[in-house]
Amino acid sequence: MRHHSMALAALLALSGAANAQDAGEGGQIFARYCAACHGTDARGNGVMAEVLTLVPPDLTGLGQGADFPVLQVVRQIDGRDPLLAHGGEMPIFGMWFEGDGADVALPGPGGQPILVSRPIADLVTFLISVQS
Ligand code: HEC
Repeated sequence: MRHHSMALAALLALSGAANAQDAGEGGQIFARYCAACHGTDARGNGVMAEVLTLVPPDLTGLGQGADFPVLQVVRQIDGRDPLLAHGGEMPIFGMWFEGDGADVALPGPGGQPILVSRPIADLVTFLISVQS
């Protein structure tokens, strides 16, 4: 137990280090994997929007501050909560978001840390930064 909480403390310390979560990096990831549908500004007007049966939602209104649904968004990106529009259980982004195995902690509901891969942490940090 003690071991476990020490590991967690170390992780949290690490995630507090500079550029653990990088909105700039996340913006580039968004441009590459998401903007075709959700638009470069995340407002849902990507070039593919008009050929899709489902309208890609505006991602700038998911919620601000503590209301941002971190866990839900993480699960929608990594495919644990499959969206058919993202390729269902085999997301069209492939395995890319599994990262390099060195997970980082994101503050989740009630401040509880959620461990995610670095690309997902960056992407979620970018999405949080564009909430209006
Ligand atoms: C092929 C087009 C396409 C791509 C690429 C795509 N999305 Fe989506 N996304 C959609 C559509 C369409 C929906 C709506 C799905 C539904 O309502 O079932 C959606 C839904 C979502 C939702 C749920 C929003 C809500 O209001 O509940 C999130 C979050 C999301 N996408 C994030 C992303 C992220 C992050 C990426 C890049 C990693 C991405 N999407 C890439 C088309 C796409």
